[in-house]
Amino acid sequence: MGFNAVKISDRVYWVGAIDWAVRDFHGYSTNRGTTYNAYLIIDEKVTLIDTVKAPFKDELLKRISSVIDLEKIDYIISNHAEMDHSGALPAIIEAVKPEKVFASVMGVKALKEHFHFGQDLIPLKDGDTLNLGLLNLKFLETRMLHWPDSMVSYLVEERLLFSQDGFGMHWATGERFADELNYETLRYEGAKYYANILLPYSALVLKLIERIGQLQLAIDIIAPDHGPIWRKEPMKVVSWYQEWAEQKPKKKAVVVYDTMWGSTDILARVIADAIAENGVETKVMRLRANDRSDVMTEILDAAAIVIGSPTLNNGIFPTVADVLTYIKGLKPKNKLGAVFGSYGWSGEAVSILAEELREMGVELVAEPLRVKYVPDKEAQEQARKLGHLLAQKITERSV
Ligand code: FEO
Repeated sequence: MGFNAVKISDRVYWVGAIDWAVRDFHGYSTNRGTTYNAYLIIDEKVTLIDTVKAPFKDELLKRISSVIDLEKIDYIISNHAEMDHSGALPAIIEAVKPEKVFASVMGVKALKEHFHFGQDLIPLKDGDTLNLGLLNLKFLETRMLHWPDSMVSYLVEERLLFSQDGFGMHWATGERFADELNYETLRYEGAKYYANILLPYSALVLKLIERIGQLQLAIDIIAPDHGPIWRKEPMKVVSWYQEWAEQKPKKKAVVVYDTMWGSTDILARVIADAIAENGVETKVMRLRANDRSDVMTEILDAAAIVIGSPTLNNGIFPTVADVLTYIKGLKPKNKLGAVFGSYGWSGEAVSILAEELREMGVELVAEPLRVKYVPDKEAQEQARKLGHLLAQKITERSV
């Protein structure tokens, strides 16, 4: 056998897979690996909620087999069509031959467009319920959280929310429950996940939290598709989401930059030093030493983004272009900003940076700081003044 299921409530088992080795999840650095969670409900209609990434199908099948024969599965419900949860679906359908396979209306389309198979899929609409025998599932569409097909399933009698990507994180652990793990790491990995996946949809996150309240869904357990299951204080992770979605700026600055011969590096460190002198938390992130997804994690709650680049071939440095494209797509809100960089002869980089930040809705606190070749004492004094100005604006703006 080799892999066992883990009981998480009276009639529900975790039957997912642990990916200890993944370090790049479509461009997001997963330094702690991840899990692909799937859940088995034992009732008159035995039901599997989601599957796993395709290479992990055997692990899923073995965990299911540790509880029940594969062919006893009646229903499969796909809460989310992204392939880390649906990749094994065709093989699982083949192995268990379920009576019915369900997904949201958009999920039915997405699964057909992924797998081009002849499998009949039954669409579920927002608010639909499904009787499994003793237990009932209720479905809520969560479009764009974070794909158009996304939905969550609520197991009424066990007060258990299968939240798919929502309230999840990338963290491979032997422990299955959040209360067995370190809260500081849970919060960090939860914030990283939010910043890199859900941030653009923050308004929808707030609506979903409001809707859970309006529907008076009592929640004892939150079972996401990645990371640990929340069985004690499940509303803790919901309150974190509320905080991240509100994007209230903290007294914090992130200085993001790259450098060719060290001049932009000097400016970055002088600016950062001056910001920090004023009691503002300051992170300095040189891009060839920091992954874009870690930069985004720090930006999540920061009041200011300070970006620096040398001019290279009349443009910005490639690593800076990369991170700008990435940040822009994730649409952070309520940010102050400033730009800086050294140059040799043409010096276009800072204007490009300033324009990019303006397009993102970042409020620039000063004109770009542009320094020829190596910063002298006067240039470093300008950098210091910029840092002090940023600190003052951050302090006025932050909560
Ligand atoms: Fe974990 Fe959107 O898939």
